[in-house]
Amino acid sequence: MKKLIIAIMLVAFACTVVYAVEVVTYESKKGNVTFDHTTHSAATECTVCHEGEPAKIAIDKKAAHGDACKGCHKANGGPTKCNDCHKK
Ligand code: HEC
Ligand code: HEC
Ligand code: HEC
Repeated sequence: MKKLIIAIMLVAFACTVVYAVEVVTYESKKGNVTFDHTTHSAATECTVCHEGEPAKIAIDKKAAHGDACKGCHKANGGPTKCNDCHKK
């Protein structure tokens, strides 16, 4: 029962913070990359990207070109070419 209550609270929490971030722009000399958090989180579960309680994720070049962005794009038909993400 206690576990169920905690689960409900976590879901309620997730719903209240869902629009905490909408579009994030990562600046790059190759062209800025925009990440639309709203469309990305509508298409999949929070837990695909967030472990535990959703919070800010630090994205650097290594993460972005790896599992945090490009890895999923490769697996799920998202953009993988430089200029698909980096817009000038
Ligand atoms: C899935 C989207 C995506 C693709 C595809 C992608 N990038 Fe990136 N790239 C990013 C993001 C996000 C960052 C993180 C920027 C930051 O550190 O804030 C980044 C960072 C970089 C950086 C370091 C930031 C800078 O300007 O110094 C370089 C250089 C770069 N990318 C070049 C490329 C090249 C070249 C390609 C193609 C081979 C490519 N990227 C493909 C999303 C992408
Ligand atoms: C496709 C990956 C992905 C999905 C799915 C996703 N997020 Fe995020 N989320 C991110 C990234 C990347 C950041 C960091 C953005 C930034 O730099 O502010 C983030 C940031 C956040 C933040 C921190 C905002 C801030 O600036 O403090 C919250 C809260 C959050 N997400 C909640 C959620 C919730 C709730 C869901 C599910 C409804 C969700 N996220 C789904 C990738 C995702
Ligand atoms: C869990 C899988 C997943 C992750 C992680 C993910 N994406 Fe995506 N992304 C997708 C898919 C799938 C599409 C294609 C959606 C479509 O075309 O309808 C997409 C589309 C995009 C697009 C083009 C459409 C748009 O929203 O403008 C950009 C740019 C993009 N992603 C950037 C990023 C960046 C930057 C990150 C990392 C911070 C990231 N994505 C992480 C799955 C993901």
